[in-house]
Amino acid sequence: MSRVKCRYFGSCAGCQYQMLDYSTQLDFKRQVVEKAYRYFSGMPSEEVPGPLPTIGSPLQYNYRTKITPHFDAPPKGKAREGWQPWIGFDAKGRRMVLDIEECPIATPVLNEALGPARQAVKEKIDTYKRGSTILMRDSLQVGTSTTSEEEENHVCIQDHKATVRERVGTTLFEFPANSFFQNNNSVLVPLTEYVRTAILSPPGGQPEKQPRHLVDTYCGSGLFAITLSPFFESVVGIEISEESIRSAKHNVSLNGISDDKCDFRAGKAEAIFSVVQDLPPDETVIVIDPPRKGCDDKFIEQLLLFGASTVVYVSCNVHTQARDVGKIVRGSKGGYVLESLRGFDLFPQTAHVESVAVLRKPRMSG
Ligand SMILES: C[S@@+](CC[C@H](N)C(=O)[O-])C[C@H]1O[C@@H](n2cnc3c(N)ncnc32)[C@H](O)[C@@H]1O
Repeated sequence: MSRVKCRYFGSCAGCQYQMLDYSTQLDFKRQVVEKAYRYFSGMPSEEVPGPLPTIGSPLQYNYRTKITPHFDAPPKGKAREGWQPWIGFDAKGRRMVLDIEECPIATPVLNEALGPARQAVKEKIDTYKRGSTILMRDSLQVGTSTTSEEEENHVCIQDHKATVRERVGTTLFEFPANSFFQNNNSVLVPLTEYVRTAILSPPGGQPEKQPRHLVDTYCGSGLFAITLSPFFESVVGIEISEESIRSAKHNVSLNGISDDKCDFRAGKAEAIFSVVQDLPPDETVIVIDPPRKGCDDKFIEQLLLFGASTVVYVSCNVHTQARDVGKIVRGSKGGYVLESLRGFDLFPQTAHVESVAVLRKPRMSG
């Protein structure tokens, strides 16, 4: 039986790995992490721990909670001749859009809505002067109160400004449809729990001082800050998007967490260090989760000056992560050790990997 579940596999640029069994996909991703650090960190091999086995996604198909099928505008003069767009995703190796009627990695509610969404565009295609994108997001029905996950009703949100709701374990998140949120909900409990365990139960034994303060940089609508807040006395998040910061503050009250505990600021990530300068670095953890381009040098300089005991760097681009981790380890002159590396499969069937690097200041002996 073929492993490939998509009729567009091989022509669509979206997935690369459907022909591989899942354990092979996970092992490929471990090798990607290993090679990224070998070639991009600039660190001697003895300072780079072998990546731990990649943590798989509970859902390997029907996991994507956001898709953005797109289409070109009618060529000049063609709109009234019944020209129909191809609506879908980029074709593999060709500068054209592939016409896609279903996407097996997207959630069921998005697949159900795809046909009507495509039809709506086709009916008014002559009104488009430029190509465009349909935003489609899987959301729990906002405004209903349910007691169990099984009862929760999923809907497809297409309005960019409408509120999307997702649940991560027992924590709810709401954010505007056009703002950032991780696209594979099924793996977010394992991911956030892994980060929590990495911080609070280091493999080398408990630190002299348990961390009490969490600083979540590039925090979006508060995924790490809010899910980890029960384990810290204070939590501060920073994020460039004011809209996401409004969501993070809303999500604090949505989950019944005290405002006094969580502080969220809009701004460039490096600005957080003037806010947290009075926190004790040996009892503070910094989570970093930047966009694909990684961290600015200004951020890394400030991070090194602050000197938190633990830094957890989460990234959807292991190559820029490796570069930045190399800068942090070298810049700290022996201060930080790269303790562990592990991939998380947020993107099954594709070649992408999310990577989690844990940096720690070694305990003073004696
Ligand atoms: C990969 S997302 C992570 C968001 C969040 N940690 C999560 O998992 O939902 C990266 C975030 O960094 C924000 N961002 C981009 N550049 C930034 C900067 N210079 N300073 C602060 N935040 C930035 C983006 O708006 C985005 O929300």
